[in-house]
Amino acid sequence: MAVCNVNALAYVLIESAQPHRWQPFLAEVVGMMPLAAESSGWLRFKMDAYCWRLAVVPGDQERLHTAGWELDPELALNDVAEDLRVAGQIVEPLSDSDCALRNVAAGLRLFDPSGQCVELVQSCALDYQPLQSPANVLRFETGFNGDMGLGHYVLPTRQFDACYAFYRELLGFERTDSMHFDGPDGGQRLHFLHVDNPRHHSLAIYEAPQPPDNGCIHLMVEVTDINEVGQFMDRCREHEVAVVSTLGRHCNDQMISVYVESPAGFAIEFGCDSLQLDWQQYRPTFSRRPSEWGHHWQ
Ligand SMILES: [Fe+2]
Repeated sequence: MAVCNVNALAYVLIESAQPHRWQPFLAEVVGMMPLAAESSGWLRFKMDAYCWRLAVVPGDQERLHTAGWELDPELALNDVAEDLRVAGQIVEPLSDSDCALRNVAAGLRLFDPSGQCVELVQSCALDYQPLQSPANVLRFETGFNGDMGLGHYVLPTRQFDACYAFYRELLGFERTDSMHFDGPDGGQRLHFLHVDNPRHHSLAIYEAPQPPDNGCIHLMVEVTDINEVGQFMDRCREHEVAVVSTLGRHCNDQMISVYVESPAGFAIEFGCDSLQLDWQQYRPTFSRRPSEWGHHWQ
């Protein structure tokens, strides 16, 4: 079985019946750059040299609908699809109109064992237009020309081991580290996974006995210094956005971050100073401790 070479988290689609709440939240609080309204009904946001990174798409539910992962453009997509089908997956190609809407050359769609929609895409278009943030965010940390992807997200699932096998064995993600929260119910496990870029993790899989309907624990975006994080906290206060975890520093990726509530109920982690790693020199670790300080959940 061929292993996909996933380069980065290219985009996320958020389904929502309340775009009027997402627009000010993402633009004025998070600081992403809204693009012009379009006939598709998608509300699209830009973070870096990529044409767009996040879209709020019309729907009945409030959830992280789709994660778009960018594949090595040299891979033969038909071979990837065939290998995934041989492994028992139901895979469909993205249509020409799907690709046009996403600004990608080609792509596949399948579902992970939790039911999350996964798109594997190639040659996402960059427009090299600079970020013009309504909140004056100077820069989101997405690497050189966006090659570290937009950030990371945490996927909650009852199908913890199956999801781990799906992302690791079928899609070729690698384990960065693992964590086990202790608790009277046996606790919960977390795997942090990286793809082919220095970001500490682009996906974490969280063992959730009762996963929320919104398909996500949190979505992380990174900025370049602590002042940007502090200014984000001021904007949250000004816009009455609920803080769900105080400022803190994670042990594993070293990120200094705060978590606030998005209109879908999952959190947005907004942080800085995360590790960027050389995977040739790295060995996965295990811990029970999420944070060096802070991150007190409200
Ligand atoms: Fe995170």
